[in-house]
Amino acid sequence: MKNTIIGIGIVIVLILGFGGYYMISNNNFTIVPTNSSDINNSPISTNPTPTTTPTPANVTVDIKNFAFNPPILNIKVGTKVVWTNNGSAPHNITSNSGGILSSATLSTGQFFSFTFTKTGSFSYHCAIHPMMKGIVVVIN
Ligand code: CO
Repeated sequence: MKNTIIGIGIVIVLILGFGGYYMISNNNFTIVPTNSSDINNSPISTNPTPTTTPTPANVTVDIKNFAFNPPILNIKVGTKVVWTNNGSAPHNITSNSGGILSSATLSTGQFFSFTFTKTGSFSYHCAIHPMMKGIVVVIN
């Protein structure tokens, strides 16, 4: 009878002991926030993705009244420039140096786009009206 009581006591101690070990080993402890603002729902990123450089927005040049507006355009590399003929006469975009910046003749409402991938100053004019001049300055 005495051995039985001791035996039951040992079993109880073992159950409590293993129970406590089980709770610890499973991190089975819950911290209840006192209010909802303590709850941080944003995931913790251990491997943050690098931020990417935003793509430059398109820049527009208005062709009107026999002029490019703005006549001098400062942009960053990778920017796409869109020339739109908002005048009544046909115009074009022609590189002064004979480079690849060259459009077809644009009628009213038509546009031409060119993406500048190199730094430098790119002078152009309208071959139909040589007094129409413009410069695109491209920086990093
Ligand atoms: Co013109």
